[in-house]
Amino acid sequence: MKNLTIAIDGHASTGKSSIAKALATKYGYLYINSGSMYRAVTLFAIENNLLTMTKSNISLFIKKLREISINFKFNDHNLISEIYLNSRNIENEIGSMKVSELVSEVAAIPEIRKEMVKLQRTIDRDKGVVMDGRDIGSVVFPDADLKLFLTASASVRAKRRFEEMIKKGLKVSYDDIVYNINNRDMLDSTRSDSPLIIEKDAIVIDNSNMSIDDQINKISQLIEDKFSN
Ligand code: C5P
Repeated sequence: MKNLTIAIDGHASTGKSSIAKALATKYGYLYINSGSMYRAVTLFAIENNLLTMTKSNISLFIKKLREISINFKFNDHNLISEIYLNSRNIENEIGSMKVSELVSEVAAIPEIRKEMVKLQRTIDRDKGVVMDGRDIGSVVFPDADLKLFLTASASVRAKRRFEEMIKKGLKVSYDDIVYNINNRDMLDSTRSDSPLIIEKDAIVIDNSNMSIDDQINKISQLIEDKFSN
């Protein structure tokens, strides 16, 4: 049976990574969260004061990209593939509000996208892969076997994200989260390089009223259909 490439794109905070992770575990596939790569670059830029978006700083930023090495290492304890920036585990830091506020600006820079896409395409897909992001079905793997587009109402998404951050002990305001997810959707959908779009062959899932199990069951059915075709 052929191992599949599954692309999961969609709006901010629609639970793409939880679904992608659960599917990868169920089918023994590799899971890659491409958003965490853009977040890693953003964290690097914040720490190196590269985020004044003047022309000169963008070119310095692009030059500095050579100093960035991004890797994933599987953590056997929490069963999560964690992200490392130059050998430092940054799994927790990339979820901060500061990174969330700036990541879409960084992700709109074509030179940065080019590097990230190059890295994403080096992944060995033979054993099956689930990758989530914004341009996976459209740009990174246009040949993906299954393309999904997740969405949900903005209020449901903001509530889920708020609860997730509070659970992690982070101090955040609900209104800031609503603003951030709407703003990121707007920036991600309107940028000129690789905007967030719904591919013609993508299956749209509105998960506003679906549990994680509902979604896994629905997507598993789509995967089984691919196997039997
Ligand atoms: O997936 P996550 O919400 O963590 O992604 C953070 C941001 O990274 C997105 O809002 C988007 O700006 C950017 N991104 C992207 N392309 C991807 C994945 C993420 O532009 N494939």
